[in-house]
Amino acid sequence: MKANELRQNFIDFFVSKDHSQISGASLIPENDPTVLFTTAGMHPLVPYILGAEHPAGTRLVDYQKCIRTGDIDAVGDPHHLTFFEMLGNWSLGDYFKKEAIRYSYEFLTEWLHIDASKLSVTVFAGEEGIPRDEESANQWKSLGIPEERIYFLPREDNWWGPAGEVGPCGPDTEMFIDTGRTACGPECKPGCKCGKYFEIWNDVFMGYRKTHEGSYVEMERKCVDTGMGIERTIAILQGKKSVYETEVFAPIIEGIKSLSQYQYGTEEEKDISVRIIADHVRTSTFILGDQRGVKPSNVGQGYILRRLIRRAVRHGRKLGIEGKFLAQLAKVVIDLYSQAYPELEQNKEFVLFELGIEEEKFSSTLQKGEHEFEKMLPNLLKGNSTMLNGRIAFKLYDTFGFPIELTEELAKEHGFSVDIEGFNAAFEKHQEISRAGAEQQFKGGLADHSDLTTALHTATHLLHQALRTILGEHVGQKGSNITAERLRFDFTHDAPMTDEQLQKVEDMVNDVIKRDLPVSFETMTVEEAKAQGAIAFFDSKYGEQVKVYSVGDFSKEVCGGPHVEHTGTMGRFKIQKEQSSSAGVRRIKAVLEK
Ligand code: ALA
Repeated sequence: MKANELRQNFIDFFVSKDHSQISGASLIPENDPTVLFTTAGMHPLVPYILGAEHPAGTRLVDYQKCIRTGDIDAVGDPHHLTFFEMLGNWSLGDYFKKEAIRYSYEFLTEWLHIDASKLSVTVFAGEEGIPRDEESANQWKSLGIPEERIYFLPREDNWWGPAGEVGPCGPDTEMFIDTGRTACGPECKPGCKCGKYFEIWNDVFMGYRKTHEGSYVEMERKCVDTGMGIERTIAILQGKKSVYETEVFAPIIEGIKSLSQYQYGTEEEKDISVRIIADHVRTSTFILGDQRGVKPSNVGQGYILRRLIRRAVRHGRKLGIEGKFLAQLAKVVIDLYSQAYPELEQNKEFVLFELGIEEEKFSSTLQKGEHEFEKMLPNLLKGNSTMLNGRIAFKLYDTFGFPIELTEELAKEHGFSVDIEGFNAAFEKHQEISRAGAEQQFKGGLADHSDLTTALHTATHLLHQALRTILGEHVGQKGSNITAERLRFDFTHDAPMTDEQLQKVEDMVNDVIKRDLPVSFETMTVEEAKAQGAIAFFDSKYGEQVKVYSVGDFSKEVCGGPHVEHTGTMGRFKIQKEQSSSAGVRRIKAVLEK
């Protein structure tokens, strides 16, 4: 069965069971700043799973484009993908375990014609406060799955969600097909990575809500959320060993062949490059062509996109493809998918144009950067360290536009790892130098670069913004001094703060920490930064490039860094003292408690 047919069958099946078909959502989540991309079909439905009424009713079905970036570096092997499509059906307080399992069984055996004797399932084994899922197991039994093919597994295997940091989640039951391969050992069971059992579908019983505090609250109205990956499923239905052998990749791989003259499947190392290009072009096309499409940049989704494009370009060169080639492959992707995702066709020009620009930007320096790297190799090989100096990594970043992850990959190909801390330090030093004028303001700001001072530095940004929110926009930084133990922050304000104000500020900072917002930066001129509403407490030369750090949607400030990547790791913020510093200037001392 082909992807198009599977997609349609899934929808038709659930429509025949009184589900309404809804449209999939954008890849860029609208209500969840804790993740960059939509990672599952349920993600856009979170508000409805939590209780809001969905206009289409209580039974829904759709197909949803998803991106998971956790495994981005694993792409290249025959199984990993960054972009995939997920089929899903939902019950919003309507049916629960019994019906969900019955629908799954019927679709698998009667519509996909999967031999029931090849099916194994897993159910939640239970833990303190959350019962063992006998109900699901009994339902599987009543449908004919024998006990020995029903496995009770713990949370690591049979719990799903939330999609972001907080939200609905619950125990699940997962369906596996026995591929007929020999088991890797007597312990082999569904969930084992050896390849014998292939996961085809996941029914999640959304009965809990994870809170900011990390606890699980039982939801009154229980929901069902299911997910079936299209690429994986067609691969197994077609008896293919890899998703890359299916018809959704064949034309892309054919395109790569005509550009490179390389025949996929003849050399393992080159196959890796083909799969990386195929996956990354497909994902980049979907990010750019999304209804809320973004461009390559140094921050957030744009940075992922940049990494994907640059990595694809490098692997193109490895296959001997010269000149620009991404747009040509993107056209193949658009043709393959525009029926299911019309936005790709609508945004085609933008997709092709932006791919071309990014490719051009990088191509001109890629070769020089690789050359630079190779020049250093003999020396590196002579030394007895297997770690690539962080300064070199920074030079590749700064001069040749190599995302650090790309340098890591390049280094790995030659048996090296990269000194990331050294890279970060060089990065920061560079920022300080490039802001010579501004540096004065920062003198004594950071005493060292440990994790503690980094977290306190981020805390300073949060404090600054919180003060401005609670006391008013007249608050501006007058000075900052950070040691590994504490931060000291001077700011304009002409009266002592009340206990209530101090509490509010402290609570606000802690709330942001708890929300685990991502910290990212973008490079731009100070003028641009100010126009975007960033706090800029020093003046720099007109047109000079500065870094602007954002903490989620909470704070935006011109600064050289370094900062934590996520606020959730910072600990608890506590104000120890508020006092006068000089006329019209107050001073706060605060700490982060672990
Ligand atoms: N949300 C569930 C998953 O992604 C169905 O597996």
